Amino acid sequence: MPARSQAPVYVAGESGVGKSTLLNCVAGLDRIDAGRVTIDGTDIHALAEPAQATFRRSELGFVFQAFHVLPHLSVGANVGLPLLLQKRPDEARVAAMLEAVGLGGFAARLPQTLSGGQLQRVAIARALVHRPRLILADEPTGNLDPATAERVLTLLMDQVREQGAACLLATHSRSAAARADRAVTLTATGIAETGITEAGVANRTGS
Ligand SMILES: Nc1ncnc2c1ncn2[C@@H]1O[C@H](COP(=O)(O)OP(=O)(O)O)[C@@H](O)[C@H]1O
Ligand SMILES: [Mg+2]
Repeated sequence: MPARSQAPVYVAGESGVGKSTLLNCVAGLDRIDAGRVTIDGTDIHALAEPAQATFRRSELGFVFQAFHVLPHLSVGANVGLPLLLQKRPDEARVAAMLEAVGLGGFAARLPQTLSGGQLQRVAIARALVHRPRLILADEPTGNLDPATAERVLTLLMDQVREQGAACLLATHSRSAAARADRAVTLTATGIAETGITEAGVANRTGS
C-alpha cells in the first residue's frame, strides 16, 4: 500500500475495522506481526526505540479526532512544539503556518478561546510545521459539525499538497474520498480494495 507525497491516501472502512491500528503500526506505535513499513526507505519497526522516537518526531505529523492541542500553551507555542522538541525553534515558520491555516492573528491566544474547527486548524499547522514526510490523520473531522468538517478537510488536503507531505487519512466520512488521490478500504479480513479516486485522476492529468 504505497503513499506518495502530495497524493493523500484515504483509508476507509467501518468503525472497528482497524484504521487507527493501521496508522499506529505505520507510526511504529503498535507492533506488527507481519509485513513491513518503510518511510522513504527507513524500516520504522527495525529502529531501536530512541531512534524510532527521533524519526517519528522529525518525519511524521499527527492529526487526531480530539485535536490534542495543549490547553496551557498559546496557539503559537502549540504550533511551534514540534520544532522546539527538535531544538530548532523557528518563529517565522510558526507564523507562516498559522497564516496558512487562516489563524494569522491567533499566536498569543489560548486554546480555550477557540472553536473546534479553529483548534483542528491549529493541530494541522502543528502537524506540518516541521516539514514531516508523512501525515497520519485519524478521524480529523470526527468532532466537527458537517460544514466545518468540509472546510477543515479541504484545508488539510491543500496543506498536505502544498507542503509536499504524504498523508494517510483514516475516516469513515464519505466526502473525504473526493479529497484524496487514492483510496484503501479495510474490512475485517484485510484490505478489500485500493484504487485511484476521481480527485486522483484529475490531479494526475493536471486538471
Ligand atoms: N490487524 C489487527 N490485528 C489485531 N487487532 C486489530 C487489528 N486491527 C484492529 N484490531 C483491533 O480492533 C479494534 C478496533 O480497531 P481500530 O483500529 O480502533 O478500528 P477503527 O479505527 O477502524 O475504528 C482494536 O481493539 C484493535 O486493537
Ligand atoms: Mg479509529
